[in-house]
Amino acid sequence: MNKQRIAILLSGRGSNMVALAHQARDGLLAERAEIVLVASNKPEAAGLSKARELGLATASIPSKGKRRAEFDAELLALLEPFAPDWIVLAGYMRILTPQVVRRYPGRIVNIHPADTREHQGLHGYDWAWESKLQSTRITVHLVDEGLDTGPILAQRAVDLHGCTSLEQVEQRGLAVEHGFYAEVLDTLFEGAAQAPGSA
Ligand code: GRF
Repeated sequence: MNKQRIAILLSGRGSNMVALAHQARDGLLAERAEIVLVASNKPEAAGLSKARELGLATASIPSKGKRRAEFDAELLALLEPFAPDWIVLAGYMRILTPQVVRRYPGRIVNIHPADTREHQGLHGYDWAWESKLQSTRITVHLVDEGLDTGPILAQRAVDLHGCTSLEQVEQRGLAVEHGFYAEVLDTLFEGAAQAPGSA
């Protein structure tokens, strides 16, 4: 079976990218996916150096001072030769323009640290902490042209009982994210590999 080619986009720490890289190397995604590129709009992103240490291909296109359309045109040109089947967002802090979304229809996935129907945009864990939620829901969804508005693929609850700080909330949430993202991608890629006309 041909592996799904994935390009990961990130802007920061990259803990989800690291988790996915391990799963693709010798875990759940090992038979299923190959990370062909890790790219960032922030050349200084910690996630990029972590990807390099893992031996992955990396690239960065600084977004600072560029119009969204101009930046995304560069992003598309960067991605093209890597022929990704999927674009996997992992802490990518930019909204993709319609030109990118339309180039990879139904093929861009994001993980969001909250229920996207209740909280969109940044600071999902701050929101859960400040709202004193006893549990929150991590969401993996397809990306459309809005901000966290795309079809939900799966959600997983995080128990927040007993958390006494935002750091704890985030720690518990990320521990769930790291396993959950790979599980959802595994199911998604399995379906794609079985779809008529797929490689
Ligand atoms: C995660 O909480 C993810 O859900 C959100 O951004 C954060 C990225 O963290 N979209 P990391 O860079 O993967 O550590």
